[in-house]
Amino acid sequence: MSVIVVPLTESFAAEIGDIDLSQPVAPSDLATINEAFAKYAVLIFPDQRLSQGQHLEFAKLFGPLETTIGVYRKDAPLRLPTELADVSNLNHENEVLGKESRVRLFQLGNRLWHTDSSFKRVPARASLLYARTIAPVGGHTEFADERAAYDALPEEMKRRIETLVAEHSIFNSRARLGFTNFSEEERREMPPVPQVLVRTIPESGRKSLYLASHAGRIFGMSEADGRALIDHLIAHATQRQFVYTHRWRVNDLVMWDNRCTLHRGTEFDDLRWKRDVQRATVCDVANSCEQEGVAIAAA
Ligand code: OGA
Ligand code: MN
Repeated sequence: MSVIVVPLTESFAAEIGDIDLSQPVAPSDLATINEAFAKYAVLIFPDQRLSQGQHLEFAKLFGPLETTIGVYRKDAPLRLPTELADVSNLNHENEVLGKESRVRLFQLGNRLWHTDSSFKRVPARASLLYARTIAPVGGHTEFADERAAYDALPEEMKRRIETLVAEHSIFNSRARLGFTNFSEEERREMPPVPQVLVRTIPESGRKSLYLASHAGRIFGMSEADGRALIDHLIAHATQRQFVYTHRWRVNDLVMWDNRCTLHRGTEFDDLRWKRDVQRATVCDVANSCEQEGVAIAAA
């Protein structure tokens, strides 16, 4: 038995079948998965029965894991081990978060187009999100192909943004929702970081936009000009032709390449339904400016 790859479109998103991720993955299967990841950027592994440990073991095949930024929030005890980001709407007693819960307001940031951990100096390479409980309606996850979005840009725009660097901060995306209630300590622990706007993915050689709602100003531009350009590019990059919508089934594991995709969660009645999705996150190798050899403009 060897793993099978069923593309959902010619170059974006594929289902991976005939593999049980609770068992050790054969080297040839891992090679097939890596190849598919380089080509399709979003991989769906349906019907996996994974313990938290097995989820983490599989994720570690792709590199070292991040620690969740939940550790910086001192307001609520964590429900999950620190290697898993809790993307659910549940508290540590597995109850639905209240309307005014600070954790809930923070999580609403996932409804904005973003890529994981671009606000960290070394951002995330891959995310592996596993659904244990889903809402009966809504709560999909949309993914946008930033390589295709880059390819579709006018040449003049490609030239203009080639060496631009944006400043990313978790507080930018939260401020977009009017959520600014952070302590000095929280702000100190997650300082803004530089990231390029355009990057090349080494495994495929494809160029990609690198955007997120975490992006704020662009170095060398006025605050307003920079923000307007980022909003323009995000609007371009999330047009329907670049988007795959994942409708979850329980026990789906979805793995995506944060270097060349945007994603966002869609609406659901989160005060009523439980949605328990948990994420293992694989670190990238370096800051994107370092990888691209772009000098970081002085702040
Ligand atoms: C994430 C995320 C969106 C969702 O896990 O990083 O943004 O639909 N998830 O839960
Ligand atoms: Mn995310």
